[in-house]
Amino acid sequence: MKNDIVTVLTDLAQLDIDAVCAYEQALEKIEEKTIYQSIDSFRNDHLRHIDDLSEMIKNYGGTPPERSKDFKGFIIEGFTALRSITGTRGALRAMEFNEKTTNKNYKKALTENADFPPEVIALLQKNYGDEQRHLNYIQVTLQKWNVERTV
Ligand SMILES: [Fe+2]
Ligand SMILES: [Fe+2]
Repeated sequence: MKNDIVTVLTDLAQLDIDAVCAYEQALEKIEEKTIYQSIDSFRNDHLRHIDDLSEMIKNYGGTPPERSKDFKGFIIEGFTALRSITGTRGALRAMEFNEKTTNKNYKKALTENADFPPEVIALLQKNYGDEQRHLNYIQVTLQKWNVERTV
């Protein structure tokens, strides 16, 4: 095995911890109820990713990362952007950037570690599926938003 399972899973868990921090900032800026509910459900997906990755890390003898406000900066640009932006559109644009990062990292983990045990691959694929759904929703919502607000 080229890469260490615990290391790969720990990096992804830390990324998901950062994503939750960013989602919490984004939620403060979103006023539209339906968009708020979707973004809130995505935050919960990331919390589940952290739980499931942590369980797997323990199964392979590792110690899961602390789920504190220990922001590691995996998605620093999108996170920083959230401090200065206002409104739903700005929040969505920052989260689009963040979700591109989560997608890129899960994809990379899957591509580089095809030799990991099936249970690990299955978890990565499940989480990656969620990340793809998150990014797609954000992009479609931004497109609709742009159309509705410019006509
Ligand atoms: Fe995630
Ligand atoms: Fe996501």
